[in-house]
Amino acid sequence: MDTPHSPATQALRRRARELIPGGAHTYAKGDDQFPEQAPPFIARGAGCRVWDTDGNEFIEYGMGLRAVTLGHGFAPVVEAVARQLRHGVNFTRPSPLELQCAELLQSIVPSAEMVKFCKDGSHAVDGAIRLARAYTGRDMVAICADHPFFSTSDWFIGTTDMNAGIPEAVRRQVVKFRYNDLASLEALFAEHPRGIACVVMEPARTEEPQPGYLERLKALTHANGAVLVFDEMITGFRWHLGGAQHVYGVTADLCTFGKALANGFSVSALAGRRELMQLGGFDHDRERVFLLSTTHGAETHQLAAAIATMQFYRDHPVVETLYARGARLRAGVATAVAQNGLAGHVELLGRDCNLLFATRDAGKQPSQAFRTIFMQEMLRRGVIAPSFVVSYSHGDDDIDRTVSAVAEALRTYRRALDEGPERHLRGRPVKPVFRRHA
Ligand SMILES: Cc1ncc(COP(=O)(O)O)c(C=O)c1O
Repeated sequence: MDTPHSPATQALRRRARELIPGGAHTYAKGDDQFPEQAPPFIARGAGCRVWDTDGNEFIEYGMGLRAVTLGHGFAPVVEAVARQLRHGVNFTRPSPLELQCAELLQSIVPSAEMVKFCKDGSHAVDGAIRLARAYTGRDMVAICADHPFFSTSDWFIGTTDMNAGIPEAVRRQVVKFRYNDLASLEALFAEHPRGIACVVMEPARTEEPQPGYLERLKALTHANGAVLVFDEMITGFRWHLGGAQHVYGVTADLCTFGKALANGFSVSALAGRRELMQLGGFDHDRERVFLLSTTHGAETHQLAAAIATMQFYRDHPVVETLYARGARLRAGVATAVAQNGLAGHVELLGRDCNLLFATRDAGKQPSQAFRTIFMQEMLRRGVIAPSFVVSYSHGDDDIDRTVSAVAEALRTYRRALDEGPERHLRGRPVKPVFRRHA
């Protein structure tokens, strides 16, 4: 094996698999998502670098599933958290930090007429759905089929290939439309008159909205009495400081943020129009909605992290830097792809601030075996790259080192295309998270 793990690390991995289903608390970090040579654990990080339990150093991409936008152990955030920790993290009444954090978010995202914080993106999206259902008195939810993830809750997981344990009645409540295809949403509204409570989508993912698409989708949603929800978990603080809603000039009734909000700390937010959001409070005459309320929901140190992170975004060219680093990486990868004759086989997708890559086989079909070969060759060269999502801490030198690694990795990719992937695959291929069987 190219990155042999020490006996101690191998023992840790075995023990983790015995004690923790899947060996990890987050599926996307699991063993099955990475080539066998990947470090089974990451012990620590600094900036864009991480070290495994054997002391090997890597440049990392993805950064905590896109949560760590500024960098690992980023001093202004860590210091704000440490200061707050000394004053206590959870009281019997709210901390003024809740208001400060909400005001800061509102100053950055003006469509946030009201804001409620929680810990995970899933909870924020779940809250949006409960509000929309209560507001409309309808049960059904229309989600964009081209966007891979919205929530860990039954309503969404029931739509995936891993829907064991989710009642059929719950699954039937969710229907799907296609991105940039207004007719597919029109058809859903026609099929379920006055049935759909809300339309849930990312404003964009790897495909940009066609001119007028989001505006027309919003008008169609409202014409059918439904609520529009933009999930900005990925686009928020990344497409633009004000999110994708700012870039495209279209706001939704409700929007959700998480990930980049607190540089890896557990903070998410549901925000949007007062008319809907206030149903979660008690300053109204309508039936109340139980909206996002948990014991740990507003821990003060995590709010301190969110405040420090948003302040840093506001005062420094963070988003601009993400685009610039991504553009440098994209240009370098494009050169390596061209030099190896890999057009149509290896492709970078998405905005420069949020680059993903596609790996295709000789027939130009998506291939987990080729994804594994590419990741394995990057790992050999000290780069963990399940995606090419950059952070503010990725310097030009890190990008250039990565581009050199890509250039070499793609030579192997080329040979694997010519000679067959089996000859170059060092271990079993990676697998998608959502699959029915092991
Ligand atoms: C677009 C989108 N929405 C919601 C979520 C759920 O967020 P969390 O994992 O914080 O619950 C994710 C997570 O990957 C996401 O990418």
